[in-house]
Amino acid sequence: MKGITASAPGKVILFGEHAVVYGRPALAAPVFSVQATAYVEEALPNSGLLIHAADLDLNLSLADAVTHGPALAAQLALEHLGTPEPDVQITIRSTIPIAGGMGSGAAVSAALIRALCTYLGHSIGDEALSALVYEVEKFYHGMPSGIDNTVICYGRPVYYIKGREPQFLLVKHPFDLLIGDTGVATPTRITVGAVREAWQRAPQTYEALFDAIGAVVEKAQAAIERGEVALLGPLMNENHALLRELGVSSPELEQLVKVARTAGAAGAKLSGGGGGGNMIALVDPANVERVGHALRKAGAVRVLHTLIR
Ligand code: MEV
Repeated sequence: MKGITASAPGKVILFGEHAVVYGRPALAAPVFSVQATAYVEEALPNSGLLIHAADLDLNLSLADAVTHGPALAAQLALEHLGTPEPDVQITIRSTIPIAGGMGSGAAVSAALIRALCTYLGHSIGDEALSALVYEVEKFYHGMPSGIDNTVICYGRPVYYIKGREPQFLLVKHPFDLLIGDTGVATPTRITVGAVREAWQRAPQTYEALFDAIGAVVEKAQAAIERGEVALLGPLMNENHALLRELGVSSPELEQLVKVARTAGAAGAKLSGGGGGGNMIALVDPANVERVGHALRKAGAVRVLHTLIR
């Protein structure tokens, strides 16, 4: 049988991370310059389903579904199709930084499930795919809001509220972002867990911070849909200050955010779970080189340029 490849993009949270776990809205966009891919091909008879994570040189089978996300993704795909275990070899690869807040786990699951379903003769829709990836996300970090699987599976900018149908974000004027990687890998479940503990200790303080973040998100959505890009920089700075108050920034993130602003970014904030991982900076196209250079000089291990549209 012919081999099948599928891919899924990385993502950035534009506004609203963490507060989205507590029912406030958030905005996210796919990043197509980094991708996870899965290739499914026929394997020897009676070999069962084998997964090779090429970047990690890790081999998995369905028996690993209790400990490894990709094996769980494959198991969920087979359950969804009502198909017995096939003899296939699945090779997964990803250029999305691991534990960097760019959705690497969700993208690997999405690519794998899409490729496996297509190989087995069933094309899976975005909604069903997103629901399965959400189940794997729960394995990775306990109580995800569902924003990562949504933006990655639909491949479009979203306005998202937990538990509701996703709304697509209409970007009137595309805008340029730089994504700077601190190089400090921090799994989302760590910072999500830390925020939860802090919220349990001081619920009123944290609810007020989530409300403030939600209000920034509403303003940002309106600005993006009206094409008022100039409003977004200050809103990013405001969102970053609130995330710092939540306790999810880090010295490395602070340094990159500060350097980006000094070099001419209109605004900058951490993006995703925080504690390390990535930050984003809103830049005028004329400033992309200068801000990118400043970020690298300040220690960013990777700087990506993406157009949100
Ligand atoms: C992670 O990309 C975004 C968080 O808000 C977690 C979540 O929404 O599940 C930190």
